[in-house]
Amino acid sequence: MSAFAELEQVHEAALADLKTALTTQALDAWEDRYLGRKGEITLQARQVGQMAREDRPAFGRRVNEIKQLLEQAHASRLEVLRHSELTERLEAEAIDVTLPGRPVVRGHLHLTTQTLRELYDIFAKMGFEVYEAPDVELEAYNFDLLNIPQYHPARDMWDTFWVEGGDQQRGNRRLLRTHTSPGQIRAMRERYPEPLRVILPGKCYRYEQITVRSEHQFYQVEGLAVGPRITMTDLIGTMTEFSHLFYGRDRRVRVRSSYFPFTEPSVELDTECILCDGEGCAVCKYTGWLEIAGAGMVHPIVLANGGYDPDVWSGFAFGAGVERPAMQKFGVEDIRLFYGNDLRFLRQF
Ligand code: PHE
Repeated sequence: MSAFAELEQVHEAALADLKTALTTQALDAWEDRYLGRKGEITLQARQVGQMAREDRPAFGRRVNEIKQLLEQAHASRLEVLRHSELTERLEAEAIDVTLPGRPVVRGHLHLTTQTLRELYDIFAKMGFEVYEAPDVELEAYNFDLLNIPQYHPARDMWDTFWVEGGDQQRGNRRLLRTHTSPGQIRAMRERYPEPLRVILPGKCYRYEQITVRSEHQFYQVEGLAVGPRITMTDLIGTMTEFSHLFYGRDRRVRVRSSYFPFTEPSVELDTECILCDGEGCAVCKYTGWLEIAGAGMVHPIVLANGGYDPDVWSGFAFGAGVERPAMQKFGVEDIRLFYGNDLRFLRQF
């Protein structure tokens, strides 16, 4: 075959091949193969030196022509492929801006926190400030200084989680506070000799069976007022106002006699059941009344342990639950739901 015929064959083959290059990548490979430094057209051009003199100009011209033609063909093919690849990508990556967005899940405050904050507001109106005391407490504060010495039968009222290790001397043993009352001693010792009016919110822990009605962790809000002339009437007035603001106006408050080692006299305060208005229902166990707090006049020994001379000072204290009132208000029937972390429950409030 003559060199000219061979050249034409390469040209045809190149054009045929070009049609099969369907991606820019394949097109690059094609360019290498025919037009590259070691490409077939380039090799053809190099043959000129071995040809008969008279054939050289014509062959050279033809090689250049073909080279140009192929370069043009390559350029227009590249244009087409680029365009179609771009279109394809745009289609694949298209974002439908008319689709509804994915909702962002917004958190909110836990029912307990909401209730606590409502209690803070109510007591702030009556001049109480919030005072925080530790969850891990010394035995002395949780018991002894509150007039509950070791072996006092009243210790059985609070089954205790003891903390292992550390100082195991009596009084210095550590425990998870079983009530918020130890904060009374802390607040008094810090504030003496000023009169004080504080609420002490916090989580309490009891080594108890968990049931529908009691958890081994729950919140209390303690109240403490100490001043020169504080009486039982102040306590009853404060709790009545609390009941009106929390449960609703014109609900009556009832005072029953009770016993706590750190108050004397001790009482239990009830309010008319919010569900049945005192008629009697399952929530109030058909009594018509709901317990709102244990309370009383601060025991002289406790005042003295806080640094206040009981001959000069007097005070009242109360301890109110947090989850129970929330349960009553919102009709929650199982206290375990509070800390079960079931979003279906939590999202309702
Ligand atoms: N600390 C008591 C309890 O947990 C409640 C209480 C507080 C009673 C303050 C009287 C005064 O049961």
